Amino acid sequence: MIAPSVLSFDHSDLKSPVVELLSAGAQLIHLDVMDGQFVPPITIGAGVAKGLRSLGDFTLEAHLMTLTPEAHFETFAEAGCQRIIFHVEATNHAYRLAQSIRSMGLQAGIALNPGTTAEVIESILDVVDEVLVMTVNPGWGGQEFIHSTMAKVAWIRERAPDILIEVDGGIDSETLLIARQHGANRFVVGSYLTKGGSIGDAYRRLQALCG
Ligand code: DX5
Ligand code: ZN
Repeated sequence: MIAPSVLSFDHSDLKSPVVELLSAGAQLIHLDVMDGQFVPPITIGAGVAKGLRSLGDFTLEAHLMTLTPEAHFETFAEAGCQRIIFHVEATNHAYRLAQSIRSMGLQAGIALNPGTTAEVIESILDVVDEVLVMTVNPGWGGQEFIHSTMAKVAWIRERAPDILIEVDGGIDSETLLIARQHGANRFVVGSYLTKGGSIGDAYRRLQALCG
């Protein structure tokens, strides 16, 4: 499944591209939340999540690229997110934080930077619904896919055959297939959606590749 990210859209009008994606069949929207601390840029907060939530019945996932991720769980839950993904590098207590997201009735995801090994999250696989493998350095859209992250995807897939593995960064029609071959089954797509043609067409093109 494709997880369109709103990061590369015009932030003064996020509604129009999301409406276009929903009418192209998107069932999921990925929100890149950056705090200017864990990563240099500051992007969007729960107010945007709440505004987009009112546009329809779809899954909203918050990818928290923040320090103290637990400080934001409740706000994004209240804003209508069904899945909260936080970075293992941002806490010493990933197991407890994943449990606390689940105790709120939400799905929990753990994200890994390109420089973090998969072994770090092996012992929390039983409390997360998904692993998000960053295939670029977090912080910016439009970067080049880092191929060496694929070994990590394959490693996780071997240990957790049924878990959702989401890849995030540099996904296009070629890298999507590479990531899929290594075991990824969800693909965050940002800048590809804005490169020529309509957002809806780009979405449909990639979704068709997912089979
Ligand atoms: C990067 C974000 C990604 C980003 C992907 O820190 O987590 O979700 O939007 O953008 P592209 O697809 O342009 O790499
Ligand atoms: Zn993301």
